[in-house]
Amino acid sequence: MKKLLELLSEEMGKAFEAAGYDASLGRVTPSNRPDLCEYQCNGAMAGAKQYRKAPIMIAKEAAEKLAGSAVFKEAEAVAPGFLNLKLSEEYLLNVVSGMAQEPKFGLELPETPKKIIIDYGGANVAKPLHVGHLRPAVIGESIKRICRYAGHEVIGDVHLGDWGLQMGLVIMGVKERQPDLVYFDEEFQGEYPKEAPFTISELEEIYPAASAKSKEDAAYKAAAMEATYKLQSGARGYRALWRHIMNVSVADLKKNYGSLNVEFDLWKGESDVHDLIPEMVAYMKEGGHAYISEGALVVDVKEEADTREVPPCMILKSDGAALYNTTDLATIMERMRLYHPDEIIYITDKRQELYFEQIFRCARKTKLVDGDTRLKWIGNGTMNGSDGKPFKTREGGVMRLENLIRETRDEMYRKIREGREMSGEEAENVAETVAVAALKYGDLSNQASKDYVFDIDRFTSFEGDTGPYILYTAVRIKSILNKYKEQGGSLENLRLRAAGNDSEKALQMQLAQFNAMMQAAAEEKAPHRVCAYLYDLANDFNHFYHETKILSEEDRERKESMLALLMLVRDVMETCVDVLGFSVPEKM
Ligand code: ARG
Repeated sequence: MKKLLELLSEEMGKAFEAAGYDASLGRVTPSNRPDLCEYQCNGAMAGAKQYRKAPIMIAKEAAEKLAGSAVFKEAEAVAPGFLNLKLSEEYLLNVVSGMAQEPKFGLELPETPKKIIIDYGGANVAKPLHVGHLRPAVIGESIKRICRYAGHEVIGDVHLGDWGLQMGLVIMGVKERQPDLVYFDEEFQGEYPKEAPFTISELEEIYPAASAKSKEDAAYKAAAMEATYKLQSGARGYRALWRHIMNVSVADLKKNYGSLNVEFDLWKGESDVHDLIPEMVAYMKEGGHAYISEGALVVDVKEEADTREVPPCMILKSDGAALYNTTDLATIMERMRLYHPDEIIYITDKRQELYFEQIFRCARKTKLVDGDTRLKWIGNGTMNGSDGKPFKTREGGVMRLENLIRETRDEMYRKIREGREMSGEEAENVAETVAVAALKYGDLSNQASKDYVFDIDRFTSFEGDTGPYILYTAVRIKSILNKYKEQGGSLENLRLRAAGNDSEKALQMQLAQFNAMMQAAAEEKAPHRVCAYLYDLANDFNHFYHETKILSEEDRERKESMLALLMLVRDVMETCVDVLGFSVPEKM
């Protein structure tokens, strides 16, 4: 379905043409004086030079041609040459009824859907998720859902950090605690136990302890590096132990991501491309791109137009070990082979900007990617505390994501219990759903690249531009519809009619912008657009709700029309909430 502004611009363009001007002058935009009109067109101003005529004259002529228009009920030329426009209620009704019948509310789907891989999450095995992992997960999940809704084929990959030094450290930590485990017996030929020799909480103690020790004890660190090397070279016992670490850790990561409604299609990691590295290295050498510099294998990626220093991309360290770069590049190679995507999108902290610039240049230069595969990096800003610095615990440490979620849930629970009558158990369930919305909306309503301040009181508030406000509005609509059913009404075959007052019209106009908004959000990979739309829609609905009696309306046709409108608002809101990655509870 065409977008409302396109339809309006076409109508306006026809008027310009009928008056003897170029149709392209008819571009219509939302009014920036909503007190005067709903839409405006500044085409006459633009045409004045071309036609050597006063803009007001051109505007007047175009306005005259709109007399009797089925689209605009008012078109007024005002000095110095603006066109102030008001929409016909009947026309708006046609657009909104059309949208209610179309799949995806009239969103136009791409002729050739793209295959997109989104690399987000970035969790590290054996290390708990912390607040730094919140933003890539939340933003990536939403971009995945938005692009999917917009008709693309999207694959989400967590890209675990599962192959680096931290694995050697964990192995060392386990060895220290349980040196007699069969994994450390090099002579052992039999089958390794199925049970992991540790629980997740033990694992979570092992890593930080080993990591701390390695910072003080050089020999210990060397041993951990040696263990990493042995693991990577395929030592049987280490591989078996590693698999246990993976299983225990991934189960826990799934649970934690799951509590935020973050779901990955692929649980791949750095380790998955280990075997591709020799081939990739050979390929880069053969192509004449990779060369040895100070013992390391590097690819130059600086470009003439650079205004800053872009260091070479290191492929292998002087001891032959693979790096973070190496696995990211080999992953590109693997993704091209397995999926041949049109686009790979990475979401990470914005401090990795230079890193991804190097990786992308290297992948292009060495032709690991085809020319028509796009590589895109989205750098997210940080979530800060009230001091404007990256968010910390009260003790000044890094906050675990689990605890952040718990604190938000507790605060949400408190607010829910405070305001309404609900059993403790019900309130707990509701608090869980609403807390996820509070956190995610608080994050996503900001442009991804901007930093923001985590303000638990504001995020969990039922008023203002917050997740709970959005959900509260959706729940309000649901409860009106439920009440109507309880009163014996049926929600089947309700007919939508032209808006009966200004606030209803405003609500319809907002609904009609859905397809344009969602298309832009998908093109720009911008969840904050969906948030802004939802907030406006919720405000328009609440305004309408406060000004209009709905269930007590006596005119049956009018009442049914308003209920049909409510159903549409509910469905659109739920769709938006879903692509943002949270959900609407039944009650609140
Ligand atoms: N594991 C990395 C970290 O904790 C993030 C991974 C980001 N994704 C990527 N493809 N490099 O810093």
